Amino acid sequence: MTQRKLFVTTALPYANGKFHIGHIMEYIQADIWVRHQRMQGSDVAFVCADDVHGAAITIAAEKAGQTPQEFVAAIAAGRQQYLDGFHISFDNWHSTDGPENHELAKQIYLDLKAQGLIATRTIKQFFDPVKGMFLADRYVKGQCPKCGAKDQFGDNCEVCGAVYAPTDLIEPYSVLSGVKPELRDSEHYFLTWSDPRCVEFMQTWTGAPGHLQTEVLNKIREWLEKDEGGEGGLNDWDISRDAPYFGIEIPDAPGKYFYVWLDAPIGYLASLKNYLDKKGVDYASYMRDPQLEQYHFIGKDIITFHTLFWPAMLYFSGRKTPDAVFVHGHLTVGGEKMSKSRGTGLDPLKYLSLGMNPEWLRYYLAAKLNARNEDLDFNPEDFMARVNSDLVGKYVNIASRAVKFIPGGKLVGSNVAALEPNKLIDGVRALFESREYGKALREVMAFADAVNMRFDGAAPWKLVKEGKTAEAAQVCSECLEAFKLLTACLKPVLPTLAAQAEAFLNCEPLTWSSAAQALGEGHQVGEYKHLMQRVDAKQVDALFEAPTEVSAPAAPSPQPSPAGGRGSEPGGEQVAPEITMDDFSKVDMRIAKVVACEAVEGSKKLLRLTLDVGEGRTRNVFSGIASAYKPEELAGKFVVVVANLAPRKMKFGVSEGMVLSASHGDEKANPGIFVLSAWPGAEPGMKVR
Ligand code: MSP
Ligand code: ZN
Repeated sequence: MTQRKLFVTTALPYANGKFHIGHIMEYIQADIWVRHQRMQGSDVAFVCADDVHGAAITIAAEKAGQTPQEFVAAIAAGRQQYLDGFHISFDNWHSTDGPENHELAKQIYLDLKAQGLIATRTIKQFFDPVKGMFLADRYVKGQCPKCGAKDQFGDNCEVCGAVYAPTDLIEPYSVLSGVKPELRDSEHYFLTWSDPRCVEFMQTWTGAPGHLQTEVLNKIREWLEKDEGGEGGLNDWDISRDAPYFGIEIPDAPGKYFYVWLDAPIGYLASLKNYLDKKGVDYASYMRDPQLEQYHFIGKDIITFHTLFWPAMLYFSGRKTPDAVFVHGHLTVGGEKMSKSRGTGLDPLKYLSLGMNPEWLRYYLAAKLNARNEDLDFNPEDFMARVNSDLVGKYVNIASRAVKFIPGGKLVGSNVAALEPNKLIDGVRALFESREYGKALREVMAFADAVNMRFDGAAPWKLVKEGKTAEAAQVCSECLEAFKLLTACLKPVLPTLAAQAEAFLNCEPLTWSSAAQALGEGHQVGEYKHLMQRVDAKQVDALFEAPTEVSAPAAPSPQPSPAGGRGSEPGGEQVAPEITMDDFSKVDMRIAKVVACEAVEGSKKLLRLTLDVGEGRTRNVFSGIASAYKPEELAGKFVVVVANLAPRKMKFGVSEGMVLSASHGDEKANPGIFVLSAWPGAEPGMKVR
């Protein structure tokens, strides 16, 4: 197959808040597809950007006491940790306020204007007489004209979902001053979707095979079609907003700005251009390449903009139209919808900070995703069961069990063809291509089941006892060949785990074309290190625990108090926020024998300890206990040392651990440092738990 050239995007998130788990889900869906593409050698540009313009963001910035620019810059600065954390492999992240977008938006507008698709019309608009400005939709609130809900924005009702104009609101008021807005005339710019050319194009484009999912097309038909009386169909689209507005100025229209939804999708092109510029690739010729395919991943709430308006904007401005728009449903958590302002109980950063493996989430979501516009639910119990049984119990298990019976890790000849590698690989690959991830993973796990059954049936541990080591090695070599196939199949979903498995298998990074090739007789695998931890119920509990109220606002330095003072502050300081067993087990504490101890020249605080931690070598550790102990007092004693602390370079040398000791929170009032030592019988190297 010739190399494909792909331009892939996810929806540009509003820069009015942090990512929630719904965003992460969309990125994971797209990232899996992109990684699958890269595995078949496609040349992919996978880009996104912050969607920064519009009234909602201006309001959020005002609340934060910042300019919109400052506000969105702060949001942008927080993005990378999520993307890295969940292994999302965007090639570029940009902003719709970048110079590329200003330029492209203006040009596309001018091109549309040259086609005669821009009209101006004077409309009645709400105006705040106190602030002296026209009010964009988001600046007007009132009662929903449909359901009567109070305090709804001027564009749609968050209670009943109705869409309307600000002037439809009952008892409208200005969000800025609270006064009743006046109606004034303002000249607005429109994209004339009612033009027969536009209607025809949209009908054709949306109906062409491959562009849209069937269920999406059915929905759109309703919007596009006029009824018998010629009513319905698309209205012209109001694309201008009056100053002050955080956005892009409309050429030759002073005081007028593009409505945020006009420049937002153009941000796809702007981010691509920004990326290509950095790579030294010419944007115009890149886009002109007839080989280029363009795909957008989006959620079901923004279908109109992406399947009707965006392709038409591109087409009538003489640009390439998308090859497909892939719509996914919404993620709920424990059956609950995501709130626009609060997200859900599943905070992506908290997930990461609890030390939960990002690939558990990737796997779980992938197992639930299909190619349809269907909602999906994150269910905590289901999550734990799925990951533990599939990934740890089925996949990882194969490697850890089989490698034991292959002497020296050198594969022997086995009947690899019986596994029908091509059948598995081709099937799974095609399912990734069509975004049927759930089906793909079911095939993968069915294969893993078969391999485990083969292993259990052959019982290599028995074979070895019976002296049939060669036979055991043969079965297990076959199992490792199967493990390689499984690794390739899981790689788009679990990139890090796959890389570790590749290191263990001692093979080149797997691609779809190399996946089915056997490692072969005589292949030397590497050392097996445990590949994946099980999900711990405590982590899942901690993930959904409400944040504790007592997140002490920057605790003041502890009050001087007598030793054993106030009950609320044991030892003169508050007990630290709760951690999980998993957090605790990250700290590896060991018994150490102080082989030697000496003063450190030039330091009043430090002692230099030579420690035996049972490793067949000694460690050098500096400890700030010189004020409390003489060197000779410590020599020969057994202490507790944090053995897995990163070595620290100090003025006097490198410290390879930390000796535990106790002290009061207020050292001035309650001086003294007390080294912890072990009871008789403890030996160097023993773990403290
Ligand atoms: N800024 C617009 C998109 C402009 S694209 C040119 C926007 N931003 S958003 O932040 O509200 O949403 C970004 C993406 O996240 C959308 O595709 C949206 O459908 C998706 N999701 C928002 N909530 C979601 C879930 N609960 N589940 C899955 N995806 C969700 O819309
Ligand atoms: Zn309503």
